Amino acid sequence: MALVKALGGTSDLLPEETRRWQLLETRARQTLELYGYQEIRTPLIEEAAVFARSLGEAAEIVTKQMYLFEDRGGRSVALRPEATASVVRAFIEHGLDKTARMSRFYYLGPMFRAERPQAGRRRQFHQLGVEVFGSASPYQDVEVIALLMRLLESLGLKMKNVMLMLNNLGCLDDRPVMLKKLKEYFLERQSDLCEDCKQRLEVNPLRILDCKNERCRGVAVGSMQWKDWLCHPCQGHFKIVRDTLDQMEIPYAPDPRLVRGLDYYTRTAFEVIYPGLGAQNAVGGGGRYDTLVALLGGAATPAIGFAIGLERVLMAQEADGLTAIDPMEPPQIFIATVSSAQILNGLKLAEQLRANGIAASANLEDRPLKRQIEQAAKANPSGTVLILGEDEVKQGVVMMKSLSTGQQTKEPLSEIVRKIKSGMQ
Ligand code: HAM
Repeated sequence: MALVKALGGTSDLLPEETRRWQLLETRARQTLELYGYQEIRTPLIEEAAVFARSLGEAAEIVTKQMYLFEDRGGRSVALRPEATASVVRAFIEHGLDKTARMSRFYYLGPMFRAERPQAGRRRQFHQLGVEVFGSASPYQDVEVIALLMRLLESLGLKMKNVMLMLNNLGCLDDRPVMLKKLKEYFLERQSDLCEDCKQRLEVNPLRILDCKNERCRGVAVGSMQWKDWLCHPCQGHFKIVRDTLDQMEIPYAPDPRLVRGLDYYTRTAFEVIYPGLGAQNAVGGGGRYDTLVALLGGAATPAIGFAIGLERVLMAQEADGLTAIDPMEPPQIFIATVSSAQILNGLKLAEQLRANGIAASANLEDRPLKRQIEQAAKANPSGTVLILGEDEVKQGVVMMKSLSTGQQTKEPLSEIVRKIKSGMQ
């Protein structure tokens, strides 16, 4: 029979790898708490409309990459390709758009996009993201960007190896002007565009700026000049963001072609690139989305956020030479049994130790004592073995053997927890 395997673009995380993830998650949570963010957990599946309406019906993530299916009730359901739309949906559904003055959320979990798998591009991948609701201040943008950089640093990335790209996509009033200018620009150079971009010229010329085709990228250089279309208030917002980043000594590169692949962005947009990662080199990205809450039916609420791709952070960590982590310690205590009649007592003793916060494992097999001790020594050469025999149990004692020194003492069972704990100090 053919072997069943994990789906392409999905991965198993075996315990050693999982430990790297846990470490990453713990560090990230500590940093997020410093900034006053609280965790939100939304479902992995949503009505497809949540994403189509938020990211844009024509966005590639919606048209080509969304895992879409009809559920048993005939509803159109999607596996979440990102979480901003879900968080906004939850924010409105629970009335927070009406009651909360400021909300700062973070999330951490799997996202799903049916992309062609390659290094750094998975079909199930993990994002750590934040969303802030209730502030339109440009200083909020800078605080969010500062958090992104601090998170990457706390996750072990060398800041000299990352680049922050910054843009301002204007407000909804600016959008028609921007699209018109782009259309004019690309119409003049249409013959140099790929077939997909010729289509994009009709549907949404903004998406031409996302095209990976080298020729299209060449054509796009020079297509966007903020001064041509950004309104006065958006220019002012952009200036404060740039000046404040300078003041805070956060280096960035202005990039008028950074439009991001999702339609909900307004004003500030940013991405962090790790050039060493190759084709998929964005470790995180985000921006302001001041119109999305209202678009999904809530009270108009300015908002901003970002998401970091954790697989890519781990790749960048590796590229920066940061891979070694301490393996998990094996349990200090092993309970060996002289005969199989003592297995139940061993099991009970192990439970008693764990209930008192002592990591323990017990022999559960019918096998010779010598073999049990050999295996315990192999698993943890500095561990301790507690040996249970019939006589010992009758007397209410246990033999306690140090695997490092070979020293053996008889200890009352009633005192064993205190004895082990005092030895641990
Ligand atoms: P995004 O740029 O689509 O933004 O994704 C954020 C990050 O997720 C990317 O920079 C990348 O590191 C990672 N990523 C995306 N697709 C894949 C993939 N197929 N495999 C591995 N990693 C991937 C968003 O998702 C927005 N929701 C971010 C945001 C939050 N904007 C405002 N708030």
